[in-house]
Amino acid sequence: MSVFVNNIILIGFMGTGKTTLGRLLAERLQWSFVDCDERIVDRAGMSIADVFTKQGEDAFRALESEVIDDVLRSTQQVVSTGGGSVLRAANRQRMKQGGLVIALTADKATILRRVQGDAARPLLQGDAETRIEQLLEERKGAYDFAHLFIDTAQLTVDQAIERVVRSLDKG
Ligand code: S3P
Repeated sequence: MSVFVNNIILIGFMGTGKTTLGRLLAERLQWSFVDCDERIVDRAGMSIADVFTKQGEDAFRALESEVIDDVLRSTQQVVSTGGGSVLRAANRQRMKQGGLVIALTADKATILRRVQGDAARPLLQGDAETRIEQLLEERKGAYDFAHLFIDTAQLTVDQAIERVVRSLDKG
């Protein structure tokens, strides 16, 4: 495995499989797994839904940037980021410096199936399908800065992991 990759940073829209793939990939590489959303919850002392309701999205985004900055001070981690973390240029820059950035993608129907009924995602409350359509449109191109892209709708988790591991071997 390449010694030049400090961290693997997973980006992608909600429901593209960042946490599921991240956990298993970390096990495979024997690296730590860090879920930025979990760190935000720890730091805020409340759920993400509560941060949005009580403090607003800007406060959430500020916490998110702090967490990304802190997490990427360490190495040998698979880092799962929140789907909106790519919206700030400073976060994108920090991620690109911090390791290999992998964008997970999936089609709208797959995303909808994976996130439907999930009360923990404040941005998808209401008509989830319409919200997904709106956000996908708003975020068009936002994940394009990644070094590598993996369509998780077309692959099993094991296949997706193999793809990452192969790319590291080549690096
Ligand atoms: C968000 C995605 C969520 C979480 C928050 C906002 C977004 O993370 O950070 O609800 O703006 O896309 P996941 O992508 O892990 O669901």
